[in-house]
Amino acid sequence: MRKKLLAGNWKMNKGIKDLAPFFKDFGGEIGLSSGSSPLNKVDVLFAVPFLQLAEARKITAGTGIRIAAQNVHFEASGAFTGEISVSMLKEIGVDATLIGHSERRQYFGETDTTVMKKVQMCLDNGVTPIICIGETKEERQSGVTNEVLSRQVSAVLEVIAHPEQVIFAYEPVWAIGTGLTATNEQAQEAHAFIRSLLTKKYQDEAQKVQILYGGSANPANIDGLLQQPDIDGGLVGGASLKPADFATMVKAALKLS
Ligand code: PGA
Repeated sequence: MRKKLLAGNWKMNKGIKDLAPFFKDFGGEIGLSSGSSPLNKVDVLFAVPFLQLAEARKITAGTGIRIAAQNVHFEASGAFTGEISVSMLKEIGVDATLIGHSERRQYFGETDTTVMKKVQMCLDNGVTPIICIGETKEERQSGVTNEVLSRQVSAVLEVIAHPEQVIFAYEPVWAIGTGLTATNEQAQEAHAFIRSLLTKKYQDEAQKVQILYGGSANPANIDGLLQQPDIDGGLVGGASLKPADFATMVKAALKLS
């Protein structure tokens, strides 16, 4: 059985001073300090702003909580003012990053090609890319959701030798930060479709890939989502900013594990 993964995406929120109180509260809520770690059964990750990465790693050291970046550049180094390279992430021990979040695609000009190059840079350096895909409201309404997902997935497949090296996050753009969640059925349908695309290329190995749902996931709707056979966890924005809310979601995953 695939392990569930609850991943928080803090986006451009929180500062260094917020880290210690957050992780203290969150750890308390999920019972991190009590003997057998709950994180043996469920994976927990936080994608935090670049400047918070080192401190977040220090504070969570030894807990099993994984700290990830939200972006990385696709070149190894050079004249790319304002960017961060994979080796810079690795230097501080960060071994995972979001790639191609819809806000990066929408506001910062990321394309299927830049996403593919970033995935390649991550994989060449042993960093886990969490590849974000999903359709806009217009695309869903005009019935092209599967075409969009196919295009986004096939753009990265050529650089992925073994699919268990990556994590996918299906995030319908219309559900992100809007309070509108995909229904359990809509989400499951998209996840099953994504897995079928992976199965075509990787056969049984596709069964090992974690595919997360993202888009207004919260403590009230996470149970139903996590019960879907192809939904392996959540990429959670707003609800990951509050330790108690995110802990509730982790506990929902624990109950199913
Ligand atoms: P949301 O964001 O949970 O606030 O909708 C999810 C995401 O963008 O990863």
